[in-house]
Amino acid sequence: MSPRSWNPTTVVQGVHWILLGLFLWLEPGSASLPLLMDSVIQVLAELEQKAPVTEAIPIASVWQLSAQHSGPQDPLHHFLLQSWSLQAIELDPTTLSPELQGLTKEVARHSVQGRQEYGVVLAPDGSTVAVEPLLAGLEAGLQGHRLINLPLDSTATPPDASDHSPDVRVTSPDNQASSPDAKAKAPTTVDSLLVTLARDLGLTFLQGPKNWSHPGLGAEGCWDQLSTPRNFTLLNPEASPLTTAFLNGALDGALLGDYLTRAPKPRPRLSHLLSQYYGPGVAGDPTLRSNFRRQNGATLISAPALTQQVWGTLILLQRLEPAHPQLQGMSQEQLVLVATHATKEFTEAFLGCPAIHPRCVWGAAPYRGHPTPLRLPLGFLYVHHTYVPALPCTTLASCAANMRSMQRFHQDTRGWDDIGYSFVMGSDGYMYEGRGWHWVGAHTRGYNSRGFGLAFVGNYTAELPVEAALRVVRDVLPRCAVRAGLLRPDYKLLGHRQLVPTDCPGDALFQLLRTWPHFDANVKLRTARRASRRSKRKPPPVTPTSQ
Ligand SMILES: *[C@@H]1O[C@H](CO)[C@@H](O)[C@H](O)[C@H]1NC(C)=O
Ligand SMILES: *[C@@H]1O[C@H](CO)[C@@H](O)[C@H](O)[C@H]1NC(C)=O
Ligand SMILES: *[C@@H]1O[C@H](CO)[C@@H](O)[C@H](O)[C@H]1NC(C)=O
Repeated sequence: MSPRSWNPTTVVQGVHWILLGLFLWLEPGSASLPLLMDSVIQVLAELEQKAPVTEAIPIASVWQLSAQHSGPQDPLHHFLLQSWSLQAIELDPTTLSPELQGLTKEVARHSVQGRQEYGVVLAPDGSTVAVEPLLAGLEAGLQGHRLINLPLDSTATPPDASDHSPDVRVTSPDNQASSPDAKAKAPTTVDSLLVTLARDLGLTFLQGPKNWSHPGLGAEGCWDQLSTPRNFTLLNPEASPLTTAFLNGALDGALLGDYLTRAPKPRPRLSHLLSQYYGPGVAGDPTLRSNFRRQNGATLISAPALTQQVWGTLILLQRLEPAHPQLQGMSQEQLVLVATHATKEFTEAFLGCPAIHPRCVWGAAPYRGHPTPLRLPLGFLYVHHTYVPALPCTTLASCAANMRSMQRFHQDTRGWDDIGYSFVMGSDGYMYEGRGWHWVGAHTRGYNSRGFGLAFVGNYTAELPVEAALRVVRDVLPRCAVRAGLLRPDYKLLGHRQLVPTDCPGDALFQLLRTWPHFDANVKLRTARRASRRSKRKPPPVTPTSQ
């Protein structure tokens, strides 16, 4: 393959499709740039600068489709490419500096091999993001929101690759009937924005009788180091390919793709768009940020629509790859069951759960001593404020620094094994793992083994946490924990002051807690103290309310 120069005829519908044939020139692992989202943004900025800009439309995207690089070409991608009438071109490998080339190669493909996850980068908000599904969503968005007709009439023998001439109907997705029976009808189209997510959801949940609930879906991992990350290792050795990083990338791709279909022209440069999205928010909107991707994703993607997408994508794959080992001989009924299950897991166990930064993201010191396991499910959530730090934290840097200082205080000054809280809620959209779901904390004296201690960073004597943070503790975390069997469905929510003489969680926050679901106004400090004294002599009573 020889380097070629830019060819203006390849500008199709204002979009450049860049095939980075340059991957072939590089040794694996030769990149010297850290695996950060900022490095990806740097590559895009460089491409935007070097590529010819036509019609004031920025360069579309970086992609690699090199068959030589990754084995046989993905038939789904091939189908979609043709349907978009795009032509690939190659970029002169000398266009990018060697370190940018190295990075591009390193993140081009997402994969999970054993416990190592490849093709992912660390974003400024502390989340890890797979680049491949992110770019796929951006591509789809730049193409406009499309519903692609499934080749349903081509039955048993699909046409060979050169024969694909799928009929692309560009429709506003709103036109698609959402009548009550739409759910039961076989889909006839797939939505280009959701195809990547739908394919991986469908294929993962096809794989047999295993239950892909946590930790199969949404596995977390840790970087070797946070300043110059190179190596990402999953925490659970049995992780499915549907890692948190993959789902983050697919969701960011869908959200940003959706934004691009609506963005006024000229469209923003992708480097600029990503800087905003992984920073303060797109176009000054503080909610269109990576920090709030799950909440935004739940608004964008309804469960019935996603079920149709997963089902449709599986039908498409069945047509394109008749010899696919898992899809062969699957009936429509079986496919719709897979699609329904996959969608339910994704919406309930991922979109419907809080985004929790594991300990490695905030730089936790190790636990001292031997943790005591909790006996799950627990019956209580105890709400705290940290009081000190008194200011809400709104960035990864400040929230992580707060976590470390609280941990130091609890370990060194208080002499505890670890930071006391089970989880800590930042005002950056993230929850931070303290002792976590499985170990007894040190947050609510006398009651630590019966409930999770949840603290909001800040002093909520006179003010309230931001709504996004309140929502996570009020609705998202309890629903997710009950579903996962960590919290009893009849759990009770209490303020710290109901059990221990303290002002915590602050007057303002406590007044608000009284209006929340599952708040138990019957628990008062006096009965609690008696229960606490009793519990020192006898085995602990079943609930702190016991008279
Ligand atoms: C798997 O799912 C089935 C049906 O939802 C359930 O009955 C079973 O207990 C689950 N198995 C495991 C190991 O979670
Ligand atoms: C990445 O980290 C894991 C676990 O720490 C280690 O086993 C592996 O060898 C590392 N890989 C590289 C390429 O450094
Ligand atoms: C907490 O807020 C209250 C009310 O604004 C204030 O009186 C108190 O000094 C604050 N405490 C800290 C540690 O900032």
